[in-house]
Formats: sequence, structure tokens, C-alpha cells
Amino acid sequence: APTLRQLAERRGFFVGAAVNYDPFSKDAAYRQAIADQFNILTPENDMKFMRLHPEKDRYTFDQADKLMAFAAEHRITVRGHTLVWHRSLPKWVEEGQWDKEQLKAVMKEHIQTVVSRYKGKIAVWDVVNEAFNDDGSYRDNIWHKVIGPEYIELAFRWAHEADPGALLYYNDYTNESMTTKSNRIYEMSRDFRSRQVPIDGIGWQMHVRTMNYASPDKMKQNLQRLGALGLQVQITEMDVKVNDNKDNTQDDKMKRQADVYAGTLSACLGEKNCTAFITWGVGDKYTYLKDQDPKEQPLLLDERFQSKPAYHAVMDVLKR
Ligand code: G3I
Repeated sequence: APTLRQLAERRGFFVGAAVNYDPFSKDAAYRQAIADQFNILTPENDMKFMRLHPEKDRYTFDQADKLMAFAAEHRITVRGHTLVWHRSLPKWVEEGQWDKEQLKAVMKEHIQTVVSRYKGKIAVWDVVNEAFNDDGSYRDNIWHKVIGPEYIELAFRWAHEADPGALLYYNDYTNESMTTKSNRIYEMSRDFRSRQVPIDGIGWQMHVRTMNYASPDKMKQNLQRLGALGLQVQITEMDVKVNDNKDNTQDDKMKRQADVYAGTLSACLGEKNCTAFITWGVGDKYTYLKDQDPKEQPLLLDERFQSKPAYHAVMDVLKR
């Protein structure tokens, strides 16, 4: 049978997963599954500010570089994640006493060091992650507090200077449907496009559950309005929790999960500007959701990297 990657490549599409250096370095089955199934990967944690830049004058690229080498060897495209976020910041940033110009200089130096190191090698960057609250207001993070709302466009401009060839994304959650937050992101994008702020796409994380997820119709509407601005969309971090409804049988859970994945992927493939479908992990053996519920099983492959019903449903949609 063909793999997800082979089917994706036939239609010029990307199917991928988030990967972590830790299992990557220890588990051959994990590496094999990545190489077989996916043509795009996102480092789940290894390119976050805290990991790459633990002290003001010290960068640590080792683990990120090893993931990059693996990707190059297997002709896998890389999404860089993430340059400006409110989490996973090192202490020196979080606890520093910055004035506006100083923090702008910190942000610029970080963005330009990281983006230029991987110039021509990282195809897509999540430049700014999760800058808005669900009600559309700016998230009250250190960047907003010290620099003000213009930190977002500055980040895009500085990333573009460092690698004009990379696609630059704004990434967030609960923004796939027509919501207050996605309206706000649409308005920001329209403003950026009208003022030539270099933004290429919007990431929809899609950490969802079988009990509540966006209708494919709403996703289509949102894809179309973003497409009209000339923007791409990628589904960047999808996982589907199944354990909310404790009454469901295991078969039920797997069937509902398969439907959510398939419905989402077909909405994406229905519009030309949706270019990638990425899950937040390779298989159920390693997922951050297990920190909350050790029995959670949110991904396409199981504990042994064998295909689940969701995998087959995704495959059927890719074949259409
Ligand atoms: O690796 C260290 C380990 O050395 C240390 O002993 C341990 C003690 O805290 O921490 C380990 O690091 C943890 C890391 O995951 C790896 O397991 C961090 O504490 C923990 O905060 C980190 O969580 C990650 C989280 O982002 C915060 O960066 C999750 O794995 C990751 O799945 C999650 O991903 C986010 C996306 O970046 C943005 N969208 C939402 C998504 C889910 O929250």
C-alpha cells in the first residue's frame, strides 16, 4: 500500500508530524515512521526560544541541527516553530528588566540569528504564535506589554529580512472556524497585506476533541476569505482527543476520531490555498497529551506506529 507521503506527493501536498529530539535519538521505529509517512515535519520543542537561546550570549543548535540533517537526508520539508511566543521563554528574557528598545533588540537579534542560520533550509516559519485571546484582544504577554502591538509586524519584517525565501506564518488555536478570534486574525492579515507586512499564511493548530470540532463548512468559508487575501493556510498541530466521553467503546472512539480527521482534511483539500496537514506527534506512543491523560490516543498511528482507523480515513481522503 502507498504511504501518506506518497499520496500527498502525487497531489503536491504536505502531510506531516511534530517531532521531538528525545524519542528521535532513542527509538528507531519512531524515525522509521517519520521517514516512511511524512514529507514535512515540525520540531515540537527543539526550536523554541528556551531551547535555542538559553542565555543571552549562548545559542544551542545541536538538537535542532540533528533534526534538520535527518529531514535533508529524507527529503522532508521543515516548518520552524516558533520565533515569538509567550511560553518556553528562557529566564533571562522573562525576568529581564527591559525597556521597549531593549526588548525590540532582543527579539530582532533572536529572530535574525535563528532564521539566517536556517536560511534556504526551513521552508516555513511560525513567526508569531498565539498572540490573541479568544475574544480577539491582544494576549497580555511580555512582548505586548513592553513593545506594544507592533511587535507582531516587527517580527514578520525581521524574519523576512533574514530569509526572504521563507514562508512566514501566524499560528494560533480555535481559529479554524468563523470565530471572534479568527475574525481578528483575518482583520490583522488584511491590514498586513495592505501595508506590505510580509505574511504568507495562517496556521490552524486544531487541538480538538471528538466531542466538539469545527464544521468543515465553516473551515471552507474561512479558507476562502483568507485565500482572497492571497494567504495560504496550513493545519499545523492537529490531534483529536477521544477520551472525553467515557461511555464510548474503543471502536466508537476510533471511528469518531477518524471522521474528525477525514472531515478536516477534506475541507483543507477542497481549497487550493490549504497546503499542509500536520499532526502534533508521530503516533500515540509519544504525545504531550499523555501528561494529562496517560490513556489518551490522539494521533494517526498507535503505540507501535501501526495504522489506526484515523490513518486509513486520512489515506482514503488523499486518494480521492
Ligand atoms: O525536556 C525537559 C526536561 O529536560 C525537563 O526535565 C522537564 C521538566 O519540566 O521538562 C522538559 O521539557 C518540557 C517539554 O515539553 C518536553 O517534554 C517542558 O517542560 C514543557 O513545557 C514542554 O511542553 C511543550 C509545550 O508546547 C510548551 O513548550 C509540549 O511538549 C508541546 O507539545 C507544546 O506544544 C504547543 C505548541 O508549541 C503551540 N501550540 C500548542 C501546543 C500544545 O500545548
